Amino acid sequence: MTPLSLRAEGATLGYGGRAVCTGLDLAVRPGEFLAVVGASGCGKSTLLRAFAGLLPPTAGAVMADGAPVAGPSPDRALVFQDDALLPWRSARRNVELPLAIRNVPRDRRRADADAWLARVGLADAGRRLPRQLSGGMRQRVQLARALAARPRALLMDEPFGALDAQTRAAMQRLLLDVLADAPATVVFVTHDVDEALLLGERIVVLGPAGVEQEIPNPRSATSDPARRAQVLAALGAPATGEEAA
Ligand SMILES: Nc1ncnc2c1ncn2[C@@H]1O[C@H](COP(=O)(O)OP(=O)(O)OP(=O)(O)O)[C@@H](O)[C@H]1O
Ligand SMILES: [Mg+2]
Repeated sequence: MTPLSLRAEGATLGYGGRAVCTGLDLAVRPGEFLAVVGASGCGKSTLLRAFAGLLPPTAGAVMADGAPVAGPSPDRALVFQDDALLPWRSARRNVELPLAIRNVPRDRRRADADAWLARVGLADAGRRLPRQLSGGMRQRVQLARALAARPRALLMDEPFGALDAQTRAAMQRLLLDVLADAPATVVFVTHDVDEALLLGERIVVLGPAGVEQEIPNPRSATSDPARRAQVLAALGAPATGEEAA
C-alpha cells in the first residue's frame, strides 16, 4: 500500500469551543518521517487526533491524500500517548483488532498477531490482559497493533516514552526495519530531541502559534542509507522472541 499524504490547511483544532491551535498549516509528504516536538500542552496530541480522524477541525481542513479526513480509518493507525488497549481483551486479541477490521481470516489473524507480538519482544505475553502488563509492555502491544494494521500512515504519540533505553533502541530499530519493508508516512511526537534527530527527516516545533520552526534533517536514519546502516549497527540486535527487558 502506498503511503498517504497528510495536510492541515488553516486548521483550527480545539475542544468545546476552546481553540488549541488556529489556522494551522502543515503538510506531510507521502512516505515522509516527520518528528514533532513542542512544549507540553501545545497541541501535539491534538494534531495527531485530527489526522487520525478523531477530532474534526472547527475551521479549515485536515486532509489525507487530498480528501478531507471524515473519521478514523485502518489506513491511519494511531499509537496513543495514554494507554488505549481494550482492557477486557488479551494482548493478542488487541493486536488482532485491526486485522479483523481488514477482514483477515481468523486463523491468519492469530498467527499475524503472535508474529507482531514476537517482533516487539512479547512472544509470551499474548494471553495476558493489559492490566497484567507493565506500562512499557502495553506501549509495545500498542505498537504491534499499529504495525499489524499495515497502515499507510502511522501517527505515533510518544510511543517509546515508557521504555528503558535498551528496549527503546530495539523498538526504534524495529520501526526502521518495518518502514524499509512497508513504507508509510509517519508523524512521530516525541519529547526526546535525540530521538527526533535520529528518526525525523524533518522536525517541526509546534507552539501556540502553530508550526514555530521547521528543521530539515537529511542525516536522519530514515533519509540517509549510510546513516541508517550505521544507526542500525549501533542499535544492536532486534528484539525478537523473548521479552526485551
Ligand atoms: N479532551 C480534551 N478536552 C479538553 N481539553 C483538552 C482535551 N485534550 C487536550 N486538551 C487541552 O488541549 C491542549 C493541548 O493538549 P494536547 O494533549 O494536544 O497537548 P500536547 O502537546 O500533546 O501535550 P503533552 O506534551 O503534555 O502530551 C491542552 O491545553 C489540553 O489541556
Ligand atoms: Mg500529548
